[in-house]
Amino acid sequence: MVEPFAGEITVYFYAILFARYPQVRSMFPQGMDAQRDRLLRALLRIVDLVDDPGNLVRFCGHLGRDHRKFGTLAAHFPPVGECLLAALARFAGPAWTPEIAAAWTKAYGTVAQVMISAAEEDEAVRPATWPATVVHRVTRGPGIAEITVRPHYPYAYAAGQYVSVETPWWPRRWRYYSVANAPREDGTLTFHVRGVPGGSVSEALVHRAAVGDVIRLGPPMGDMVLDAAHHDELLLVAGGTGLAPIRALVEEVARRGEHHQVHLFLGARTGAELYGVDDMLRMAQRYHWLTIRAAVSHEYVPGLRGSLPEVLLEYGPWYQHDVYLSGPAQMVASAKEALTLNGTRPDCVHHDPFETPVLFTP
Ligand SMILES: Cc1cc2nc3c(=O)[nH]c(=O)nc-3n(C[C@H](O)[C@H](O)[C@H](O)COP(=O)(O)OP(=O)(O)OC[C@H]3O[C@@H](n4cnc5c(N)ncnc54)[C@H](O)[C@@H]3O)c2cc1C
Ligand code: HEM
Repeated sequence: MVEPFAGEITVYFYAILFARYPQVRSMFPQGMDAQRDRLLRALLRIVDLVDDPGNLVRFCGHLGRDHRKFGTLAAHFPPVGECLLAALARFAGPAWTPEIAAAWTKAYGTVAQVMISAAEEDEAVRPATWPATVVHRVTRGPGIAEITVRPHYPYAYAAGQYVSVETPWWPRRWRYYSVANAPREDGTLTFHVRGVPGGSVSEALVHRAAVGDVIRLGPPMGDMVLDAAHHDELLLVAGGTGLAPIRALVEEVARRGEHHQVHLFLGARTGAELYGVDDMLRMAQRYHWLTIRAAVSHEYVPGLRGSLPEVLLEYGPWYQHDVYLSGPAQMVASAKEALTLNGTRPDCVHHDPFETPVLFTP
């Protein structure tokens, strides 16, 4: 009933939250227009999962652990609940009966309790965030920087995962970046960041970050890892800076010394945007199990021509492979569609969520 008013409810909710409880304002980023609706989207997801307690608890638990990096405490839940229910009541109008109000109060209390318990359990085993010093920085291609950081305390993650990052220039603006390397002995992590025109965090990382700066990392996330594979043969597909997690997976195969055969396709619209090819070619010279093909879709250059989905189908079939896709959302979605229509099992196609990962917890 209230879903059509999502935008208005969100604005109203934050307005009353910040008016009644000004002390929580500083927890949120200054400009938050673009992402204001995420709380409501999480609630809609919770409503969808209401008859599926296992997944509901998994979703809320993940949400609770994710909130640790925002500095959320158990004491913050009652004020947020009060303002959220007030916002729902206002937009539901006469439909907000005492029974509905009681049901929502109970539901919010349950969700909050699951989030709080998950955060407390997580607190017992790891920090909320990890400060990390920039130890190396190189520019790669137009507007792309490779940034290597050293976390101040051990940071366990798996190749193929991504990390939320906060920079000193945009406090409380968390953005996700994939780690471009398998775990190293010295504990450093490398990110490939493409500056989005007009983007806040990406432009700061590409143009301002320097050796010695300290950023903050959230916990590692994502299921695009080698252990998720069902087959030994892997098809890895990367568009643009989508190469980062794919590169980490190649390093991980090398590190484990397992018997995988790896077919890597790199794609971009133009030759200039085709990024990281030399690095990957060096790897292919070193590892006989790795083959590489690069394709360009919007320009004539020697080699393969066409979009990645088209080129993949030319070289298939891929139904005995696990497929890892990374890059622009449209490329990932169309490659996934093309592959599954041609026999690849959907559960063998792995890719990251396109946005706000916490909302897409499986
Ligand atoms: C799971 C995951 C992994 C990611 N891994 C990487 C990575 O390894 N390297 C990397 O560079 N980025 C990666 N991203 C994207 C990254 O998290 C940011 O979204 C991106 O850097 C833009 O942030 P910003 O603060 O600079 O832009 P914002 O200030 O958030 O946005 C500014 C404007 O740019 C638009 N915009 C935002 N993102 C994009 C985009 N990607 N393309 C075009 N326009 C956009 C917005 O709509 C807005 O209008 C990943 C995202 C996810 C969800
Ligand atoms: C049922 C309760 C809640 C739900 C469903 C919920 C949901 C969400 C979601 C989905 C996000 C986006 C997460 C992301 O981008 O990674 C978010 C962000 C956030 N939440 Fe919550 N939340 C809840 C309670 C709270 C409470 C009690 C606080 C404390 C005041 C809080 C503070 C924040 C902050 C500071 C952010 C970051 C905002 C931003 O970056 O724009 N949340 N919340």
